[in-house]
Amino acid sequence: MRRHSILVTGGAGYIGSHVVRQLGEAGESVITLDNLSTGFEAAVLSGKFVLGDTNDSSLVARLLTEHAVDTVMHFAAHTVVPESVSNPLKYYANNTCSTRQLLEQCQRQGVKHFIFSSTAAVYGIPATGIAIETTPTLPINPYGTSKLMSEWMLRDLSTASDLRFVALRYFNVAGCDPYTRIGQSTPKATLLVKVACETAVGKRPWVAIFGNDYATPDGTGVRDYIHVEDLADAHLRALAYLRDGGNSDVFNVGYGHGYSVKEVLQMVENVSGVALTIKQEPRRAGDPPSLIANCDKLSSRLGWKARYDDLKTIVSSAYLWEQRLLKDPRGFIK
Ligand code: UD1
Repeated sequence: MRRHSILVTGGAGYIGSHVVRQLGEAGESVITLDNLSTGFEAAVLSGKFVLGDTNDSSLVARLLTEHAVDTVMHFAAHTVVPESVSNPLKYYANNTCSTRQLLEQCQRQGVKHFIFSSTAAVYGIPATGIAIETTPTLPINPYGTSKLMSEWMLRDLSTASDLRFVALRYFNVAGCDPYTRIGQSTPKATLLVKVACETAVGKRPWVAIFGNDYATPDGTGVRDYIHVEDLADAHLRALAYLRDGGNSDVFNVGYGHGYSVKEVLQMVENVSGVALTIKQEPRRAGDPPSLIANCDKLSSRLGWKARYDDLKTIVSSAYLWEQRLLKDPRGFIK
């Protein structure tokens, strides 16, 4: 019998490339499908790379059959919250409609397992600032809505067919792989840790704090920052869970505690030894004040354990990656 393979959409992107690398290290057969709109072929360290779109149904059908794919991991998406507010249809097209196209091919080709990159943004503004999987999903930006609609399609398709899925709701990812081979390389990045590290290495003149009047301890936004290695590992746990016959389900992926924007910037200054130029700006559209994960379900049901749960470790890793990009950007320039 032919060995089953895993199709990873968006495997050349930031999170996808870390998962592809970990899957390769675990001996899995992986095919990355990526249109390189934000990803880099150089970031794909394992398996086969195919240039193309998730909504190219004939290409997807061919890959699923040729490689005897039984698991799809779906990362390909737009992920910038403020952009989703200004251009919502871009997000519904790429995140929601493309997921539907992909799922149709999965159903036709009899894919058994589907692991979906969802987001903490599906929760909107949880009353306590802490989200558990049963917290009502009330997204406050089109990015979160576009992902939640995909979760609903998965829920309904898994009821109507043999496909089983895990949706992982990511909190705020940062950091790079332990050997600084891959990391977040997106041009015009918007994520706080990356922006602050780019400022520390001199790529940007300053970093902004968006809002200092939130009802949080220091007035700035609080998030649950998770190291990309731990986030990637959750995908391998989800794969093992589905292969063991686990039911379709949704899991938060974070550490269960948060840091404010000011605390993150302070840590970047400590790690880099650079005094950042910081500008105070108004609140950014679509931002909740505080968003922290309850991750008990991930640990208890998938056996996931955090290995890098420390802000200094996360920021140091992200800073190392920015230094590497500065010195040796080969393969990571757009
Ligand atoms: C959001 C999503 C997250 C998604 C990510 C991808 C939510 C709640 N979360 O994260 O699921 O994976 O986008 O883009 O929608 N900040 C600054 N200055 C900056 C950048 C950010 O002050 O230059 C602040 C933000 O206002 C926020 C915090 O830092 O309070 C984190 O922002 P960011 O890193 O952009 O991530 P989220 O928007 O939380």
